[in-house]
Amino acid sequence: MLKKISCLALLCSVAALAHADPFASGDPRIGKQMVEKHCISCHASSFGGDGSGIYTREDRRVKTAKGLIAQIRTCNTNLGLNWFEDEEMHVASYLNKNYYKFEK
Ligand code: HEC
Repeated sequence: MLKKISCLALLCSVAALAHADPFASGDPRIGKQMVEKHCISCHASSFGGDGSGIYTREDRRVKTAKGLIAQIRTCNTNLGLNWFEDEEMHVASYLNKNYYKFEK
């Protein structure tokens, strides 16, 4: 009986961890396609490789989850992509899961 309870507790803490994702409403698979289509070529031409070095460089600009969504919004506006908020979430979710790894 005791074993069962601690198992449950473990499951719950795993679920709680999953909720620490600040962009849980976004779908990283959609975000990946959006970034590949609209964002990578320019980053790659200035940073080389697949351009992802821009997200992981030591003096990167984005330091918080809020900062990440703000940066994406700025790019979105500057480039005239007209992404909706939920689309920005997909991109934030993708970039966060793969590069930034902010938890809240
Ligand atoms: C025309 C070129 C260009 C395009 C297109 C572009 N970016 Fe950028 N992006 C840059 C440059 C240059 C920087 C670095 C700015 C700096 O260092 O001040 C940057 C920085 C960033 C950063 C911050 C990286 C850090 O330092 O943490 C993010 C996030 C980002 N871009 C996301 C995007 C997204 C999302 C898109 C697609 C909607 C996009 N960018 C499209 C040129 C571009």
